[in-house]
Amino acid sequence: MSKTKNRSNAGFPTVRARRLRQNPALRRMVRETTLSPADFIYPMFIVHGQQVRREISSMPGVFQLSVDMLPQEAEELLELGVSSVILFGLPAKKDPIGEENFAEDGIVQQAIRVLRMTGSDMIVMTDVCMCEYTDHGHCGIVKDGKILNDPSLEILGKVAVSHAQSGAHIVAPSAMMDGQVFAIRRALNEAGFPDTPVMGYSAKYASAFYGPFRDAADSPPQFGDRSSYQMDPANRREAIREVELDVIEGADIIMVKPALPYLDIIRQTRDTFPNLPLAAYNVSGEYSMLKAAAQLGWLDEKKVALESLTAIKRAGADMILTYWAKDAARWLNE
Ligand code: PBG
Repeated sequence: MSKTKNRSNAGFPTVRARRLRQNPALRRMVRETTLSPADFIYPMFIVHGQQVRREISSMPGVFQLSVDMLPQEAEELLELGVSSVILFGLPAKKDPIGEENFAEDGIVQQAIRVLRMTGSDMIVMTDVCMCEYTDHGHCGIVKDGKILNDPSLEILGKVAVSHAQSGAHIVAPSAMMDGQVFAIRRALNEAGFPDTPVMGYSAKYASAFYGPFRDAADSPPQFGDRSSYQMDPANRREAIREVELDVIEGADIIMVKPALPYLDIIRQTRDTFPNLPLAAYNVSGEYSMLKAAAQLGWLDEKKVALESLTAIKRAGADMILTYWAKDAARWLNE
């Protein structure tokens, strides 16, 4: 090699990328993305009954829990450094509009009160949607086989207010009805909750990766699918438009969902909206597929889970809704 080439700063052998990879301390020093238990939001499925802790068959390690199990669960989470949860409820009875969804003694309302009673500083978020509560399993009001937008907004507003009245810190609409963030913001303001933040499931795709969740929350649509309201997986520009609308409507936190198959959307959302907190939902199917492979001995669960969560953060998410919250916190604390 000529001297000039050797002196130039242009490349090898002057430049060696491996210099900073020589040992763990060096690698730690130049690490660009780090995970912390405080990044995680733990989804929980609340059921009626007592002493219920029922494992979801398609989601090993995730349980449906009755309200009396929550204080212990919250304590465990806080000890691990996970300081926020998002609640999903399974009602005692389903009907066309989902009455229990906004009932004072609804299952989520009970769960919120119990979690707030523990006096801990656990952030209690709630999913605001209709599919777990309606007999048709859709996320809005159904008429003649169609999912109606505007009449659903009124219900979503009532649900959000009911959650806030029970003590929810943050409400998170996931129904993908147009105008849902604005409808909820207005309902909260009118009910005396101007300070309750709204986390919008802003860019939520019609994804088959929600399959196991529908076992957990007993919420599969009884006819058709959700593609008339959730987004087409093929669309990227539209995601930016969806997020923009949530921002205009007053969302305090925005979200992309699912996470792993949509890292490009997370990245573009982060770049387009640099000043808003961005959440990503590492959904049930993302969890189940790695869990299944790990159970077969094909993948190392701890490594692939932490790698996945790191990738979601690296793509631009500030916080991650994940069923691995507890395990990941444990692994990070090891
Ligand atoms: C409610 C809702 C769903 C998920 C979160 N909120 C299901 C759906 O839209 O069908 C999915 C979460 C997951 O798969 O982990 N609409």
